[in-house]
Amino acid sequence: MKIYILNGPNLNLLGIREPGIYGSLGYDELCRGLASYCEERGIEAVLYQSNHEGDLVDKIQEAYFAGASGIVLNPGAYTHTSIALLDALSAVKIPTVEVHISDVTKRESFRKTSYIRPACVASIIGHGVKGYYEAVDLLAGGKETGVYARKV
Ligand code: DQA
Repeated sequence: MKIYILNGPNLNLLGIREPGIYGSLGYDELCRGLASYCEERGIEAVLYQSNHEGDLVDKIQEAYFAGASGIVLNPGAYTHTSIALLDALSAVKIPTVEVHISDVTKRESFRKTSYIRPACVASIIGHGVKGYYEAVDLLAGGKETGVYARKV
């Protein structure tokens, strides 16, 4: 199976940005860890980060044409603003797990809104970078395990 693991703005600064909130692991280290985790499970992973909303829309569309069977998406701040990302996910209908490293439910009130959540099969919030691995596991589990109906 092929999955896309997409990260939005400022997530390339993991390890540098607010380590008290996002931890000390760098983005490159996270990608290396996820790439080998997926490889060990026979999952083809496409890892991508952009600071630009339209680039993320392009990547979601690419996932459709590439026949991806899942998307792990941390849209960063675009979570709280982007109808374009919601529309892209609704269009392609690829099972998508929303991931947030921090617990957005316990921070500023504007972080409580997620525009993309209605188009996601699950949301993993506040589990640190471990949340990305949990999202991969959910997608790899597939429909048989019923994960697509579950909100985490
Ligand atoms: C984030 C939470 C967002 O509110 C924030 O803008 C981010 C990262 C997270 O992973 O906790 O950039 O998505």
